[in-house]
Amino acid sequence: MKIVAYGIRDDEKPYLDKWSDENPDVEVQSTGDLLDESTVGLANGADGVVTYQQKPYTAEVLDKLGSFGIKFLSLRNVGVDNIDATAAKRNGIKVTNVPAYSPEAIAEFTVTQLMRLLRRTNTFDRKQKDGDLQWAPDIAEELNQMTVGVVATGRIGRAAMKIYEGFGAKVIAYDVFHNPELEKQGIYVDTMDELYSQSDVISLHAPATKENEHMLNDDAFSKMKDGVYILNPARGALIDTDALIRALDSGKVGGAAVDTYENEVGIFNTDFGSFDKIPDERLKNLMKRENVLVSPHIAFYTKRAVRNMVYFAMDANKSLIESGKSDKLVDL
Ligand code: COI
Repeated sequence: MKIVAYGIRDDEKPYLDKWSDENPDVEVQSTGDLLDESTVGLANGADGVVTYQQKPYTAEVLDKLGSFGIKFLSLRNVGVDNIDATAAKRNGIKVTNVPAYSPEAIAEFTVTQLMRLLRRTNTFDRKQKDGDLQWAPDIAEELNQMTVGVVATGRIGRAAMKIYEGFGAKVIAYDVFHNPELEKQGIYVDTMDELYSQSDVISLHAPATKENEHMLNDDAFSKMKDGVYILNPARGALIDTDALIRALDSGKVGGAAVDTYENEVGIFNTDFGSFDKIPDERLKNLMKRENVLVSPHIAFYTKRAVRNMVYFAMDANKSLIESGKSDKLVDL
């Protein structure tokens, strides 16, 4: 059995090598290249493909995999929004993801960023570098006094809720699917409008779909409390960046932590050498603001998560090849 693993980063390689040692019945071929039209040929002759990338898995690539007889594609991440679902289905390609490599990693980072915003750490760090050790005017706020509105109560949303509750915040949530346990606790509001009007902090944990693209737009911001904090460790497409910039300018949004950005592909996880060379003016607009924390999609990036992404995806691909079955199959 042969699996080709694409886009293997240096930090993933030791885990892949270990998995390979533990699975001597599988021939593993790995490459740092992403899976696209120019690299798909490498998969010819393999039984399955394991990948992670943010750039699209196009119809052309999926048709090529289909023409090689490859039926199993296992992603090392959770989001499946970059797969051409029609092409995958047309080629009979089964797709798995890793739905829970570490929900806690993302939740912990999200709350870390919120605490940094509330305690004005950007401002105090800057002031201290300038020799200014004064307190005022940068007085902080306390999470235990706030209502946090969690959008989507999947694994990551629920992990974040636990931490918010640990801090003593009131937590409310919106989701189309209600988790029975949370339902019993009366945590759900019925509409996003209710969540907007009641929340001091809005914590986004939804996948990107056609329906929720630019969910946070001018209209949504207008329904929120003045000075609301926005956290987006989920998907850039959930926020209309221009609307966010307007809401920051007007003071409607008091602070934002964005670990995802709608145009991040090709920008995040790249070294441009200097701030000026970052090729995205809107992103730089956000990065220059002291009440905005931009991070390059690193909420997931922990040793445990990376290990699990490699192991769970390789296990899923092997299982598909052996039996056609996996508990990580995605309904595209
Ligand atoms: C995902 O798992 O879908 C993520 O967003 C994390 C990714 C950058 C590895």
